[in-house]
Amino acid sequence: MPSEKANSKAQAKGKAQTKGKAQTKGKAQAKGKAQTKKSKPRNGQQGKPQGKSKVSVDTPLKSKAEYQKALAELKRHDALYHQEDNPQISDAAYDALRRRVEAYEEANQPEDLFTSEAKHSIGAKPARGFSKVAHEAALYSLANSFDEEEFHDFIERTRKFLSLKDAEPLVIRGEPKIDGLSLSLTYENGELVLAATRGDGSVGENVTANALTLSEEYIPKKLKAKSGTPIPAKLIVRGEVYMARDDFLALNKAQEAAGAKIFANPRNAAAGSLRQLDSTITATRPLRFVAYGWGEVQGTLLPQVDTISGVLACLKAWGFSVPEQFPCKVLSSDSVEDLLAYHGKLESQRADMEFDMDGVVFKIESRAYCKRLGAVARAPRWAIAHKFAPERAESQIEAIELQVGRLGTLTPVAHLKPVNVGGVMVSRATLHNPEEIRRKDVRPDDRVELQRAGDVIPQVVRAFPEKRKKNSKPWKFPTTCPCPIKSKVVLQENGKRAECSGGAKCVPQQQARIVHFVSRAALDIEGLGEKVVEQLWQAGLVRTPADLFTLAERDGGQDNKPIAEWEGWGETSARNLFEAIEAGRSASLVRVLFGLGIPMVGEVAAETLATRWQSLTAIRQAMEQAAKNEAERNEIISLDGFAEKMAEAIINWFAEPENQLLYKTLEEVLSPTPPQVRSKTGALAGEVVVFTGKLETMSRSEAKELSKSQGARVASSVSKETTLVVLGPGSGKKGRAAEALGITTLDEEQWRRRVGV
Ligand code: IVH
Repeated sequence: MPSEKANSKAQAKGKAQTKGKAQTKGKAQAKGKAQTKKSKPRNGQQGKPQGKSKVSVDTPLKSKAEYQKALAELKRHDALYHQEDNPQISDAAYDALRRRVEAYEEANQPEDLFTSEAKHSIGAKPARGFSKVAHEAALYSLANSFDEEEFHDFIERTRKFLSLKDAEPLVIRGEPKIDGLSLSLTYENGELVLAATRGDGSVGENVTANALTLSEEYIPKKLKAKSGTPIPAKLIVRGEVYMARDDFLALNKAQEAAGAKIFANPRNAAAGSLRQLDSTITATRPLRFVAYGWGEVQGTLLPQVDTISGVLACLKAWGFSVPEQFPCKVLSSDSVEDLLAYHGKLESQRADMEFDMDGVVFKIESRAYCKRLGAVARAPRWAIAHKFAPERAESQIEAIELQVGRLGTLTPVAHLKPVNVGGVMVSRATLHNPEEIRRKDVRPDDRVELQRAGDVIPQVVRAFPEKRKKNSKPWKFPTTCPCPIKSKVVLQENGKRAECSGGAKCVPQQQARIVHFVSRAALDIEGLGEKVVEQLWQAGLVRTPADLFTLAERDGGQDNKPIAEWEGWGETSARNLFEAIEAGRSASLVRVLFGLGIPMVGEVAAETLATRWQSLTAIRQAMEQAAKNEAERNEIISLDGFAEKMAEAIINWFAEPENQLLYKTLEEVLSPTPPQVRSKTGALAGEVVVFTGKLETMSRSEAKELSKSQGARVASSVSKETTLVVLGPGSGKKGRAAEALGITTLDEEQWRRRVGV
């Protein structure tokens, strides 16, 4: 596997680490000595008693029965806090409960036969959350293919990128896609020094203490040196932590007997077990690890490792389990049908496998090809996850409701009797759009078939008309939006799209924008989903994404009850929310731009804008200039992957007063991390390159990637910024424009010499 580009974010790391420290508090201090926790007085609440606990603070426990009840309660809250990250009482109430239990134990020891469980089994509270680690080499995810056509496209795309002639083989390796969670292990001089979860791919969680509890067979603490595979000075191994099915069933049985959390599937069990704040719990869980590649290897003279299978052979020699004991296959893609047959075979054996898998990962065997292919957005071009057919199940619709999207799109959603679809409980499924409901004739009390593929939102596949009541009637798409002002619904694209006409006045639409801004792909603010956004909105505390960043200072002000005192909240959960928001301030610039929902700005375009201008302010200024001035406009149009329509949509978005207001406020409250500027030292550092005409020796995509890796910025059309135009046969307008502007032109051969290939 090629060494992926380092993406260290010192800033993010610094902040996150401070965060980790600040989080240590609370029950650890409260251990032993009774301690009255002082809440800071809130506006308008001075003098009011702060104790809001239902447990009477100093009432002693009178009997063993009372003690046992209180102890069970204490354990339950400990499990909610430590194992499930879901505290349900305030710290003050917890502390009071704990004091009563400990006081009873103190008074009854040692005469009583039972042990002092509160002290011995609960112990000090670990720091809340894990410290964060910036990955030296980013952890990518995989692109998916869901059917044969998409898989054929992948092969075609790859061959085209590599400019392979028909006779040139492309060898592909197939491996089961194990359904667990990815883990990155760093070894220095052969010793395991760091284990980190994927997190957002750039910053993960430090779970070293937990990884150390896995057996040697899966995670060697010291690499084994063998002749031919000496120990590297530094090695970053990538792989999957998972739980075998039998182990998962046994764990759930034990959990049930102990009245503890039951896991929905082996993946959740693996994730829940690895992400334990207390590593002694992880130690009791049957976790396994399989290494599927490396992120980086330094300081050793390995034999020529030119295939992915070669990488795995090294990993195996160092002591890892590799996807070798699993059925793997290396095939030439001359026989794509064979690859599909391999996929089909694994799929048919799926139910009998020892572990859950959700598809086959197909990888290009040649590391040289992998290196040339590189990555796009957050996934390598050299691999694809070819998923298995979606899991299906039947359930009963209880209601059909409209969900309002951030752009006003109204999606009909079926609310269902919860049903297990391939290990995940599903209670809502999309019905896509009015036309789909009409076509499938799905009705509000129908029995329906559902399907779920990977992380894709569950879908209603079809209704069972034979199972419906006689008087049932087709569902009529509502004519008004569920928003409080009941805006009119507008149908577009022959009923394939329904839209709320309320715009900025539609509350659910505004809420959906905030939800998108904080979602996983955007700022990734943990604990801030639809429900919390709705609560914050109802309380009048948040109207725009920018409001989140002043929430902590406004909390509890102006006769507002502090969030910690809201139903279902506590001091811990409120503090966690504020901390997660705080961490969002330094999210990457790409994520902030993506989160804004600017029309046509997905992750790739966001990355292009962020790389070009490096700050929120510079991007806005460029767009404002572009609205006034043709040359600036052309520069935006010329960005790689941009076109006139897209540039126009973005410039118009920036010209809207309400967007301006939001954007400028965000400039003040956020300090986003700009993307790393590509190599400043490459052969094309500082150049802005445009390709035109045909290239003879490599594909346009590869030429662009190569230019970028050498420090150039690639543009799609010639502008005043362009410094180099690579001309091939058939170049027309762009070639002439370059000449007119006096820009240096190169033919393919000259360009190849410049980049040294
Ligand atoms: S190779 C760019 N091989 O699937 C990452 N991944 O959905 C290269 N996964 O994040 C990954 N089994 O955690 C690879 N045999 C396998 C895998 C595998 C499971 C996971 C991996 C990745 C996720 C993407």
